Parts: sequence; C-alpha cells; structure tokens
Amino acid sequence: MVYEFRPNIFSVGTQDWDRRLFDELIPLPEGTSYNAYLIRDKKIALIDTVDPRKREELIGNLKELGIKKIDYLIAHHAEQDHSGVIPDILALYPEAKVVGSEKCQEMLSDLLSVPKERFLVVKDGDTLSLGEKTLEFLSTPWVHWPETIVSYLREDKVLFSCDFFGSHLATSDLYVKDEPRVAQAAKRYYAEIMMPFRSAIKKHLEKLAKYEVSLIAPSHGPVYPKPDFIINLYKDWVSERVANEVVLIYVSMHYSTKTLVDYFISALMRRGLTVKPFNLTVTDIGELAMALVDCATLVIASPTVLAGSHPLVFYAVYLTNALKPKVRFAGVFGSYGWGGKMVEMIKETLGNLKVEFLEPVLVKGYPKEGDFSSLEKLADEILRKHKEIGIC
Ligand code: FEO
Repeated sequence: MVYEFRPNIFSVGTQDWDRRLFDELIPLPEGTSYNAYLIRDKKIALIDTVDPRKREELIGNLKELGIKKIDYLIAHHAEQDHSGVIPDILALYPEAKVVGSEKCQEMLSDLLSVPKERFLVVKDGDTLSLGEKTLEFLSTPWVHWPETIVSYLREDKVLFSCDFFGSHLATSDLYVKDEPRVAQAAKRYYAEIMMPFRSAIKKHLEKLAKYEVSLIAPSHGPVYPKPDFIINLYKDWVSERVANEVVLIYVSMHYSTKTLVDYFISALMRRGLTVKPFNLTVTDIGELAMALVDCATLVIASPTVLAGSHPLVFYAVYLTNALKPKVRFAGVFGSYGWGGKMVEMIKETLGNLKVEFLEPVLVKGYPKEGDFSSLEKLADEILRKHKEIGIC
C-alpha cells in the first residue's frame, strides 16, 4: 500500500499480518510491518527495503508510483527484514547507490554480497542533497546492531529511525491512533530487542534532543505524528527508575514449588507489593521481557532437575541475563529431593546483572511450616529493599 504522508514523501512498505515469530525466537502476537519510505525530489531516495518474503509488494508499490529511477537506497541497518530486498532493487535500478555506515557496507557485503562499488559510505553528520530536500545521517550504533544509523530530513523535520522507536505491530493505521496499544507494542519491542543496549540508547536520545522532529517514521509499526509520545516512553525505559514490582518466574513439577509460589504471592500481596507471576510452561517470553523492563525485583522459583534448575527456568534466566534489565534485587526459592547446586547455577547465569541476591529458600521435598516462615522473611526483605530505594 502506498501513502503520501508529506508532499513527495511516501510510505511504500508492507504489513506482515500473519507472521508470528521473528528470528525464530521473538513472538509476534500482532504480526509486524516492514516500513520503507520513498522521497521524490530531483534525486529519488528509497529509505530501507523490506523482508524478502514481501519483495513483490515493495516492487509493486514502486511500480504503482511510476518510479523509473532510484538514485539512493538508504540502508540504516543491515538486518534482512530491512535490507533483504537491496539486491533486487540494485538489479532493477542499476544507477542506485546504497548509502549507509562503513560497518553497514561491510555487513551487507558479507550478508547479501552487495558490491563495494555500489555503496556510498556516510559518517555521523554527513548530508545528502536530494534537490529541495536534504538528508542528514546520524550515527546511532547498537540500536541494535553495530552499524545502525538514522536519518533526518531537514526541511520536513522527519526522523527515519529504522528499528529505533519501532513496534512489531501490523496495522492499517499509517499513524499512531490507539496510543495505549502502540505503547504496549513498542514496550515489547524495546524489551525484546533494545533493552540490552540501554546505555547506548540513552546517549542517542540525548543526541536526538538537539533536533526539532515533527514526525518519527520507524521501520516497524505506525508512524509517530507526536514524537514526544514515544521519546518520553523511551526516556523512562532507559532511565534508572524501577517500579515497585516483583517479577516471579517459576516452574513446578510435583506441587512443592507451586505451593511455595502460591504462598509467596500471597505474602507479597499482604505487604502491598505488586507481583507479576510467570508460569514458564505457558509464558510468552515477550510478556516476560516487558515485565522485566522496569521491575525492581526478580524472583526465580524452580524444582531441582539433574542438580540444576528446571531447563525452562534455565532458559528464562539465560534470556534475562542476555536482555540485561535494570532489576536491582533477585531472590531464588525452590525444592529439591536429595541435593544440587541450583542457586549457584542461577547466580552464575545472571552474571550480566548488577543485582543484590537475597537469602535463598530451599526446601527438601514438600514445604513444611518453617519453610513458609522463610518465605515471609524473603517477602519482608524485598519490602525493606524497596523502601530503602524509595519506591514504596
Ligand atoms: Fe527490524 Fe533489526 O531489524
């Protein structure tokens, strides 16, 4: 579908209504979109392409617009959901040059065999005149790969941000209409993809603050006509603020851990703490990642399996470590039959996180009276820690 959303600036990307998994890892409950944009001036610039599975739609959109020549193909990011159709565009439009960072050139050569002579390397602050309109390129590495850049169309004050500020959301709305829905989708996207790069993103937000932006056009999800809406959400997510919340991830095999989990949830609730439990046998990992964006405390509950945690718990802990949430405190409880090193293994696996571990509670077999008292102490300790950092 082609939309002209500013004079001579078109949206030419595609919706992927049915896709339910990205990178064979990330759930997409609401599909996604691969946004590409076209600027028609004396020179014609295509801003990113689309996932290869949507090749024909992009090429059809360019035909619908009657595009006979493309001068520049801006490649903000080398990941294939945006770059995958570059070889086709280069074949169809022999005069087109790919424009991107030096690292992007190297990556597109490795990933898609884009010839070096078809590439124009740009650095931070470089500009490209299209005639009446000027693109300025800003280096924003690690959003979420090392080569990423964004571009600013000076005359129209439009920021083309690629993955930055994106949301996995297939929608018929070109612009954000349902703000709460987009806020949720963007938070999920941030949690799954951007959270490990929180420090880099914080610096990029400071850099972008110097630009007057009237519209943000990302490469996934709807366009932001009110840029402050998404910028303010990002500022909060990358800040040091944590919420008075406990995320509790668990698996139980024979009711011992589940009995502890149920008791512990009540203990937290009695203390006025918000708890978000995730039974990992049925959890959407995107929902878990979202809860980790700003919770103050993570508690892990597991039975002991072959000396360690249940494998589903290990997977969630491994993923949490990779996502690097700003969680401050961590607790572990669970059950065992004859021994094991579950707590040590969990602590080791969370090595990226700057967390303070609270006293673990390990129960032999089914929980007894003294075990529930230990959970009361753990809940007390969490409340005390939250008070100490001023969030309750
Ligand atoms: Fe949407 Fe990192 O690709």
